[in-house]
Amino acid sequence: MAMNAVHRRLCQSDGWATRMRSRVLPWAMRDVPLTGNVLELGPGYGVTTRWLAGHGGRMTAVEVDPALAADLRDQFPAVDVREGDGAALPFEDETFDAVVCFTMLHHVPSPEHQDRLFAEAARVLRRVGCSRGRTVC
Ligand SMILES: C[S@@+](CC[C@H](N)C(=O)[O-])C[C@H]1O[C@@H](n2cnc3c(N)ncnc32)[C@H](O)[C@@H]1O
Repeated sequence: MAMNAVHRRLCQSDGWATRMRSRVLPWAMRDVPLTGNVLELGPGYGVTTRWLAGHGGRMTAVEVDPALAADLRDQFPAVDVREGDGAALPFEDETFDAVVCFTMLHHVPSPEHQDRLFAEAARVLRRVGCSRGRTVC
């Protein structure tokens, strides 16, 4: 589901970036290792991507909006940015050590679509014991 104008303005504002990077992300990611293969679903304007990419992992991002995906490629040459739906991921099973998404589930238009996105996140997440790979939304 596309973002409306207010949402677009908010998600690329300095205030949003500051809040996400100083409070939300450090709290949400406090127990999640980010040094392996990390997949972000719904990176949007890249506020969360920039923070994640600074933690040493090999980043991949899947964004459904073609214009945002193109912009992310320009912003983050080291991130493998794919245009696509997080509910139909073009990756092998157990490819990633962590799968994350922030502030995006409400853009996925139905509970069934959200379930498919979670199922895909679980499919591509590596199973290494019970406590290593994690999905955070
Ligand atoms: C509100 S933005 C959040 C951006 C960023 N994660 C943040 O927190 O600042 C949500 C993003 O999710 C994307 N999105 C929505 N549904 C998606 C889907 N099914 N697969 C991948 N991306 C999706 C939207 O296009 C939008 O860029």
